[in-house]
Amino acid sequence: TLDDLPADLTGEVALVRVDLNLPMKDGSATDVTRVEAVKPTIFELASRGAKVLLLAHFGRPGGQRSSMLSTSMVIGDVERVIGKEIMFIPEIAGPVVAQAVSSILRDGDIGLLDNTRFWPGEEKNDPNLAQAIAAHGTLYVNDAFSAAHRAHATTEGLAHFLPAYAGRSMEAELKALDAALGTPEQPVAAVVGGAKVSTKLAVLEHLVGKVQHLIIGGGMANTFLAARGVNVGKSLCEHDLAPTVARIMDEADAKGCTVHLPYDVVVAKEFAANPASLRTCNVHEVAEDEMILDLGPQAVEALADVLKTCRTLVWNGPLGAFETEPFDAATVALARTAAALTLEGSLISVAGGGDTVAALAHAGASQDFTYISTAGGAFLEWMEGRVLPGVAALEV
Ligand code: 3PG
Repeated sequence: TLDDLPADLTGEVALVRVDLNLPMKDGSATDVTRVEAVKPTIFELASRGAKVLLLAHFGRPGGQRSSMLSTSMVIGDVERVIGKEIMFIPEIAGPVVAQAVSSILRDGDIGLLDNTRFWPGEEKNDPNLAQAIAAHGTLYVNDAFSAAHRAHATTEGLAHFLPAYAGRSMEAELKALDAALGTPEQPVAAVVGGAKVSTKLAVLEHLVGKVQHLIIGGGMANTFLAARGVNVGKSLCEHDLAPTVARIMDEADAKGCTVHLPYDVVVAKEFAANPASLRTCNVHEVAEDEMILDLGPQAVEALADVLKTCRTLVWNGPLGAFETEPFDAATVALARTAAALTLEGSLISVAGGGDTVAALAHAGASQDFTYISTAGGAFLEWMEGRVLPGVAALEV
C-alpha cells in the first residue's frame, strides 16, 4: 500500500491506474463515484510531492483512437471532483509523455494520459507496451479494483516493470471484500438477484460453499422455483437450467447452506408501472398468463428475519424488476432492513455490481451499508472466488 512508500515522494513519478469508465450523458458524467473513490490516492501522492500520471480506459474502443472515447471527455469531471487542475496528455507513452513529465509537470502536479485502450497492446497485455509506459514512471499504483479482473498492460503488466502498490481505494475494496467472504464473521447471508441464472452460475456455485444463507431473487428465483416444479406462468425463466439449478440446490444442502426462495410473489399480466392486473399471491398460485415481477411481503419479512440472525451480508442483484414501480418494493424493503441492521452494528453489509448500487441508492440505503464496491464485472468475478489478475500482480 502507499504506507510502504517513503513519506516524501519528491522526485518520484507515480503511474496511477484508475477507473474513469464513467456513465455519460450529454458530454458529462452522470455518476462520479469512481472519481471520488480515487481522490484520496491522487491527493495523497500529489501532496507527498510525486508527479502523478493517471492511466485509465474509457469504453471499449478496441485498439483504435476515437475522439468520443478520449479520456479528455472526462477530464472536466475529474478536475471538479479532485479540485485541482489536471494536464491532459494525448498519449500513454513516447516523447509527448516524456516531455510533459520532464518539462511541464512540477512536483505535485497531475497529468491524465489518453484512453489506454486506444493502444492494441493494452488489452493484449503486451509487455512491450507496459515497458514503454513504465519508462515514464518510478512507481506504479493500482487504484482500479473495478478493472482488476482484466489482465491488461496497465492493470497487470505494469506491476512487472515498476515497484507496485495498492492505492487507497483498492486497499479499501480488498479489506471490505475480505471481511465479507474471505474471513467473515458468521453466519453469512448472500443475496443474489438479477435476471438470469446463466450469468451467475459460477457465483452460485462458489457461494454455496461459503455462506449459510443464499437468498435468491429477481428472474433467477423463477428459474429456481421452476426447477422445484412450481409453475411460473410466463415469467422470465431459464427452464433449460432446471437440472443445473437442482444440482446447486443439492450441493447447498450437502454443505449446510439454506437456499431461500419466496413463498409469495407479486405478479401481473403485463410488465408496466402499476398495471391493472397487479396482485400478490402464493408462488403456487401463479396463473399461466401472469409473470412474477417481485418477491411478496411475506417473503421479504422472512428474509428480514434471516438477516437478523446473520453477522455478514454480501449483496449482488435486485430482488425484483426494481426500475419499474411497484416492483421495487422487495428490494427497497430488504435493503432498508440491511441498512438498519448495519447501523445498529449487528451486520457487516457489502454490496456491489452496477444494478445493485443503483437499487440500493434508490432505496436510500447505500450510505448505511458497510461498504459499496465501485466494481461491476470485477465484483462478480470476485464473488465467483476468482483471483483477479490486477490484484494478484500487486501481491508478487
Ligand atoms: C467497468 O466499467 O466495470 C470497468 O471499468 C471494466 O470495464 P470493461 O468491462 O470494459 O473491462
